[in-house]
Amino acid sequence: MSDDESAAAPRKVFGRRLIYGRRRGRKLSPTRESRFETWLPRVGFALPPPDRPLDPATLFGAPKQAYWLEIGFGDGTHLWTLAQQHPEIGFIGVEPYLHGVAKLVMRIADAAEAGGYADNIRILTDDARLLLKALPDASIARGFVLFPDPWPKKRHNWRRIVNAETLADWARLLPPGGELRLATDVPDYQRWMLRHVLAEPRFGWLAERSADWRQRPADWPASKYEQKAIAAGRRPQYYRLRRN
Ligand SMILES: C[S@@+](CC[C@H](N)C(=O)[O-])C[C@H]1O[C@@H](n2cnc3c(N)ncnc32)[C@H](O)[C@@H]1O
Repeated sequence: MSDDESAAAPRKVFGRRLIYGRRRGRKLSPTRESRFETWLPRVGFALPPPDRPLDPATLFGAPKQAYWLEIGFGDGTHLWTLAQQHPEIGFIGVEPYLHGVAKLVMRIADAAEAGGYADNIRILTDDARLLLKALPDASIARGFVLFPDPWPKKRHNWRRIVNAETLADWARLLPPGGELRLATDVPDYQRWMLRHVLAEPRFGWLAERSADWRQRPADWPASKYEQKAIAAGRRPQYYRLRRN
């Protein structure tokens, strides 16, 4: 994200949402646009009215064994890989950037039309912080925040989506033994994440040696942004946090 974009005034959507950065990219081709419009209503959902909890089981046709939540999924590469590996899990993805959402929706549409989709992904195209507030206690078994926007300028650090408040939300949403996975390639955000995580007593850091945060665990698929970061010579770190 460029400095110009990060300096842009916050955009208010419907009064209570605050979404920074891009929401729309290049225009979709007419064919993709029409496919997107057909499929998004099948896999998308809206936030409930304020103060009404959202039971994740109600988002899926049949109850799932557990529910995993990824916020800021980008083009959905990581989410899609996990969803194919775990048809028994209900995946909830949140991403306000519509071009990224379209990529995941097309993957779902292609797989569903080929008869190879477990119908286990639901998408919210909104500010993830609103969903974190709407979900009930202990309703999410695993969470992911991968390569969030870095907001590198000191005066913009407060916009970072990993912060004391969202970590408290995650601690409420995850049951004991639940796991939160964070990653970033930005050294200052690495320090920031660890500082905030270590200050939240409800999380324990699952790391014994440096390889545990320097190498992506085998059951943790790559994300699109991560691949770009590594290709550019940056060194991501991967944090697995256990809800105590
Ligand atoms: C640097 S990208 C990383 C995308 C993806 N996680 C990956 O690793 O490829 C950060 C993403 O977070 C999304 N994002 C920013 N603010 C958000 C918010 N309030 N709620 C949900 N997603 C958000 C952006 O639209 C963007 O797609």
